[in-house]
Amino acid sequence: MDKSAARKRLEELRREIHRHNWLYHTLDAPEISDAEFDALMRQLLELEEKFPELVTPDSPSQRVGGPLLEGFAQVVHPTPMLSLDNAFAPEDLRAFAQRLHRLLGVRPTYVVEPKIDGLAVALEYQDGVFVRGATRGDGSVGEDITANLRTIRSLPLRLKEPVSIRVRGEAFMPIPAFEALNRLREEQGQPLFANPRNAAAGTLRQLDPRVAASRRLDLFVYGLEQAREHGDSHWQVMNWLEELGFKVNPLRRRFGDIEEVIAYVEAWRVKRAELPYAIDGMVIKVDDLELQERAGSTVKSPRWAMAWKFPAEQARTRILDITLNVGRTGAITPTAELEPVRLAGTTVSRASLHNEDYIRDKDIRIGDLVLVQKAGDIIPEIVAPLKDKRDGSERIWQPPDKCPACGSRSVRVEGEAVRRCPNPGCPAQIRERVIHYASRGAMDIEGLGPAVVDALFKAGLIRDAADLYALRAEEVAQLERMGEKSAAKLIAAIEASKQRPLERLLFALGIRFVGAKAARLLAERFGSIDALQAAGIEELTAVPEIGEKIAQSVVRELADPDMRRLIQRLQQAGVNTVQPRRAGGGPLAGKTFVLTGTLESMTRDEAKARIEELGGRVAGSVSARTDCVVAGAKAGSKLEKALQLGIQVLSEEEFLEIIRQ
Ligand code: IVH
Repeated sequence: MDKSAARKRLEELRREIHRHNWLYHTLDAPEISDAEFDALMRQLLELEEKFPELVTPDSPSQRVGGPLLEGFAQVVHPTPMLSLDNAFAPEDLRAFAQRLHRLLGVRPTYVVEPKIDGLAVALEYQDGVFVRGATRGDGSVGEDITANLRTIRSLPLRLKEPVSIRVRGEAFMPIPAFEALNRLREEQGQPLFANPRNAAAGTLRQLDPRVAASRRLDLFVYGLEQAREHGDSHWQVMNWLEELGFKVNPLRRRFGDIEEVIAYVEAWRVKRAELPYAIDGMVIKVDDLELQERAGSTVKSPRWAMAWKFPAEQARTRILDITLNVGRTGAITPTAELEPVRLAGTTVSRASLHNEDYIRDKDIRIGDLVLVQKAGDIIPEIVAPLKDKRDGSERIWQPPDKCPACGSRSVRVEGEAVRRCPNPGCPAQIRERVIHYASRGAMDIEGLGPAVVDALFKAGLIRDAADLYALRAEEVAQLERMGEKSAAKLIAAIEASKQRPLERLLFALGIRFVGAKAARLLAERFGSIDALQAAGIEELTAVPEIGEKIAQSVVRELADPDMRRLIQRLQQAGVNTVQPRRAGGGPLAGKTFVLTGTLESMTRDEAKARIEELGGRVAGSVSARTDCVVAGAKAGSKLEKALQLGIQVLSEEEFLEIIRQ
């Protein structure tokens, strides 16, 4: 096929794929099977591979996520992105209607639509092609998240008419996608997202567009800038946007009377649990665009719109039991095991009870019917027991006098709300300590979540964090739900954790009161674990922001014989116990490196750690901002690009020379 034939065929394929994509993701009415769709996609990709110069930004192939970004550029919003005033009661809406009547001299017609609980985005189209998308930011300046937005299947990359417009909408994560994502994160030992909104925001604001592509985000548009140039009413404009290919919420309705508006929004307070996406209220807008303009806006919000906020959703269920969890510091916390109930789109079966005073003050009993609510967290809270529903079979709960895991006598320190297991050798504490050791902000060992930690303990392969470094891939591969491949990956991740800076290790050790920040301050001041172990209270409290409480805890815990043994074994295993010099100070300060190909003398992680130690940084892709590319064996496209851009290229030997200081 020659180039002009390819161009023609590509155009046909793109048109067809866009249409099927729209039928599937926007209209929910596919005409072809997934296999047929995949076949079209394959044809497109093959042809684009043969003619890379014919790839366009609006090609469906661009949804898979482009190269790693170095940061987000700023985008100035030509018209500011305002927020909405809130109404919580019917009277607030009646007052809103009266205000508008007084202001405009007429009673306006309203459009009511769901208030999607996601992330506001501004989308720009030029001649029908999606060219840029940004977050709201502070309302005037947002961040350019085009590459991530492109991965959203319901966002049209090309409109049905070649118009140049700016639209606004809400990107969100549907509840089933949110639940699946959190399940996966739990398995991998990563922190969970508290709600679909955080998950959507976290997805759109991270730098690897392939991650965004792998998470199923969705989008509803709800506004058009300079709308009056395209219609007389919001209703009309929304219908037009729908015709152009956007997904507009199908629950939008038009009403002539505020009482009808109130009835409609009230109905959705109850029915919202049926929706596959989270909504936190309804939005009421004046329909007529001329009236909108006359009503105008304050600096913060338009006078022609109002958000009706739903109260925190509550549900009734029964407490089946109260169970105990022992944390890594020995804190024993009670949790209510609930009869599973649907709440705010997810099924809840547990509620945090915090501590024994909380249970006593609220008079919560096992067997009680209770009211639970979600306050933005995954774990809901108990509002109150329904005391008049008791039948006498409920049991008053007694705080445990023994640790449920090791049987040691539990202690409650004067002035503290929590009860603790005082035995540092308690298996439950050790388990939690290993999970913490491997977690994100700590040693960041990918793939080592609670399930794998449990399996390792059960198989007798580890007794503490230091044992991780003696694991062999063959033994790990024997564990349930592990294969050779994931075992090898886990071993590599454990190996890579040896290079973490001291601040991570200090945090990972789980010394009481030493959070990520205190760990950094201590690591930077003392430089090595040996120096820190030798430090006394006075030296510690001399560090700004380190108080008596932290200092005492550090001295006490680092002097503990078990802790000393653990640290010694970690050192013997090759775990780094020094803090790299701070970026900005080192000989490579301000320099950006890109690593490509295979290095013989070290792993990529080691090379990266060394560069960072010397003050430089490592980026994932080559750009004009790259200072230096280190090319190992079999270097490919990154090396080519570096040569094209005239960027300095180092061989492995030259690189070793530089870092040997
Ligand atoms: S209209 C001038 N309509 O709610 C303000 N907003 O505080 C235009 N939102 O940040 C907003 N669904 O992200 C509008 N159907 C909807 C919405 C909606 C969700 C969000 C929006 C905004 C916030 C308002």
